[in-house]
Amino acid sequence: MQICKTVAETRQVCDAWHASNLKVAIVPTMGFLHEGHLSLVDIARKNADKVVVSIFVNPTQFAPNEDLDKYPRDFERDEKLCEARGVDAIFYPTPDEMYAPDFSTWVSEDSLSQSLCGLSRPIHFRGVCTVVLKLFNITCAQVAVFGKKDAQQALIIKRMVRDLNVPIDIIMAPLVREDNGLARSSRNRYLSEDERNRALAISKGIFSAEKAFNNGEKNPDALKAILAKSIQEAGGKIDYVELVAQDTLRAIDGTIDRPALLACAAYFGKTRLIDNVFLEG
Ligand code: PAF
Repeated sequence: MQICKTVAETRQVCDAWHASNLKVAIVPTMGFLHEGHLSLVDIARKNADKVVVSIFVNPTQFAPNEDLDKYPRDFERDEKLCEARGVDAIFYPTPDEMYAPDFSTWVSEDSLSQSLCGLSRPIHFRGVCTVVLKLFNITCAQVAVFGKKDAQQALIIKRMVRDLNVPIDIIMAPLVREDNGLARSSRNRYLSEDERNRALAISKGIFSAEKAFNNGEKNPDALKAILAKSIQEAGGKIDYVELVAQDTLRAIDGTIDRPALLACAAYFGKTRLIDNVFLEG
């Protein structure tokens, strides 16, 4: 496994693979890898000959009041996990390598990013789209894998790729949960034991709402109420609980008559957690 710290090294490695007609997949991450990330690696390996994992805590997607400085980092551990999972190269740049001091070009998606997490994190998706397009351009990967845990992010990246004719296939991978139901996230690290136990109310609410939907409940307010009640009863502070159409990420009123997404963000203590379920039926 190669560790590339510069754009030039990464290009060299990927160019050699492309010259040998090998299909390259990228799995963009911010490190502190868990089973969710590693499931993306497995999917990447099935869909390409070579897998690059990028590990970069991207400063431009964090607002000044957010957790950029305390975001968990452990490169040595990540390196071992990648090696064991058969990753071919890690791209591990510094912020200076990714952003020139006078960096001034941004990719901003202006529709899907206007709801859900975009409301409380107004610059977040601009930072995500910009860094992800850079990663696509650096590796010229033909495939990229994103988790459904960050459903809005994955849908926005798909939109960006379509709108800007980026030659890459985006695979959306299933959300991975702990055995107790909690959606896997590097931020789970911040939770105290008590917060972690109470935060299970999020996935419990998601499962109950999904069950109600599968049993015929097609009223968005009823499904949102099931999830909101579960979070509130556990002492969580809701940022949002929304039921939106998958193609627009705008609220569905009345009856759920098209592919939908029930999504939420909630605080347990100071930690903001997100979860969702795609409702297809
Ligand atoms: O999902 C993440 O970890 C990040 O938003 C990503 C896609 C790696 C971009 O920094």
